[in-house]
Amino acid sequence: MSDHAKDYSKYFDFSDAKLVGREDGKTTYRINGRNVQINAAPDYREEKQRGKEAVSVHYENAVPEELRTLGAGRKYMIQTYGCQMNEHDTEVMRGLFEEMGYVQTEHRADADVILLNTCAVRENAEDKVFGELGHLKVLKQQRPELILGVCGCMSQEASVVNRIMQKHPHVDLIFGTHNIHRLPHLLLDAHFGKEMVIEVWSKEGDIVENLPKKRTEGLRAWVNIMYGCDKFCTYCIVPYTRGKERSRLPEDVIAEVRDLARQGFKEITLLGQNVNAYGKDFTDREYRFGHLMDEMRKIDLPRVRFTTSHPRDFDDHLIEVLAKGGNLVEHIHLPVQSGSSDVLKRMSRKYSRERYLELVDRIRRNIPGAVLTTDVIVGFPGETEEQFEETLSLMREAGMTSAYTYIYSPREGTPAYDMADDVPNEVKRNRLARLNELIGELSLEHHRELVGEVVEVLVEGESKANVNVLSGRSRSNKLIHFEGKKEWIGRFVNVRITAAQTWYVKAEAIGEPVPEVSELAEQAG
Ligand code: SAM
Ligand code: SF4
Ligand code: F3S
Repeated sequence: MSDHAKDYSKYFDFSDAKLVGREDGKTTYRINGRNVQINAAPDYREEKQRGKEAVSVHYENAVPEELRTLGAGRKYMIQTYGCQMNEHDTEVMRGLFEEMGYVQTEHRADADVILLNTCAVRENAEDKVFGELGHLKVLKQQRPELILGVCGCMSQEASVVNRIMQKHPHVDLIFGTHNIHRLPHLLLDAHFGKEMVIEVWSKEGDIVENLPKKRTEGLRAWVNIMYGCDKFCTYCIVPYTRGKERSRLPEDVIAEVRDLARQGFKEITLLGQNVNAYGKDFTDREYRFGHLMDEMRKIDLPRVRFTTSHPRDFDDHLIEVLAKGGNLVEHIHLPVQSGSSDVLKRMSRKYSRERYLELVDRIRRNIPGAVLTTDVIVGFPGETEEQFEETLSLMREAGMTSAYTYIYSPREGTPAYDMADDVPNEVKRNRLARLNELIGELSLEHHRELVGEVVEVLVEGESKANVNVLSGRSRSNKLIHFEGKKEWIGRFVNVRITAAQTWYVKAEAIGEPVPEVSELAEQAG
């Protein structure tokens, strides 16, 4: 579904631009001495709309035969910013690059294509990318044949695309979150044309299955179960950059997870901006996140996680399924954003402090040992000292042991952007520091309670600080350091917790790693 508008003057500042031509749905302008070919541009109004049209699923191959050698002798590099969604999109793009014959590099100087997969959630995320574009200009001047691309959430903002056209004419390619599968065709245009190519679909497209993925490691994997977000929290840009909620079909998710289990992955994380809304968009079946998690339990894979949960859609059926345990781990990331019902109302989170605490209580009663973590924003417009203190008290009441904490950042186009950003910067920073201090205390208290307990760790690697120490995570996502053999990396080891630190615990191994099914079969004979 592409945007067919041909006159882009209403989207961008074209005061210095000259129309060069329009052909095959593509419009070319001359700006800053360079031709810019626009196939489609982001449109805030369209991004906001939620159409009723059904989402279809496509299974065709995204890399046509004739493009399978485009990357021969060429290297690519992707720099990723933002959340797991972006990290996983990068894995898909790496899969596409490699099906075209490109080879990955970590060195800019070797790269023939550099992509910045960007995040728009806060202003400082955007500043980093613009800073990076400044540095990359020098490289592009030295090697004009280098292709420089910008993709991800920032590309979905007309103001960002406008700024790149005006101030960063050394960028060759801009594409959005809905047209990642078009990468092979866009690269072809970029390598053989001289124009900057812009193709950003404003409206989410259909779901494209069977895209190749090159995952970072062989131990843990992310699996998208849905795309987009319909919640429209008033501060958040994600519903505009990621489009409406679309769920992948359960059979496609299950097939992907089974395949990962066959490949030997030990842990998967199901991904969505609001996984609890999974299945709400199905018109042919009554199938929700609880049903999907029940299916995950039957797959022979040691650990299944999910992120992120919105408190609003967290239903009793899901709690009932999670309580069955097995490979469904006892960690729930449940962003609260604020402990004040008034602030929550202005954020349009659609639950109150009381409803959130009641949900936490239901989870704790039904899932023994559940560990909850959260996200918090401080300094939202109009947040008073008392309201902030309600956030502090909620942290303790809800038994939070870890949180991602942020200073509110106004995002153009969101409803909160029009509210007065009236909490002074100094107050915001002070609240963030007080909140982080409290979370540190709560985390340490929790870790002290764990001393003496035996837990199972999935060993991820060596500790960054000390190569003689291994590091891994428990089912509840606790970071654990202990002494052990390098060969244990990738295995499950039972450890006894010996000491509490603020952000991790120390432990000692109890014997050798837990035998794998294949080893048990060998022992049996
Ligand atoms: N969908 C998830 C949810 O609802 O919790 C998280 C989405 S967002 C990518 C991750 C976190 O960024 C949010 O939970 C929120 O705390 C934070 N965030 C989003 N917009 C923000 C803004 N304008 N300023 C500061 N933090 C923001
Ligand atoms: Fe943003 Fe709210 Fe959607 Fe999360 S649920 S992505 S915070 S709009
Ligand atoms: Fe950022 Fe987009 Fe994720 S805005 S947080 S990369 S969904």
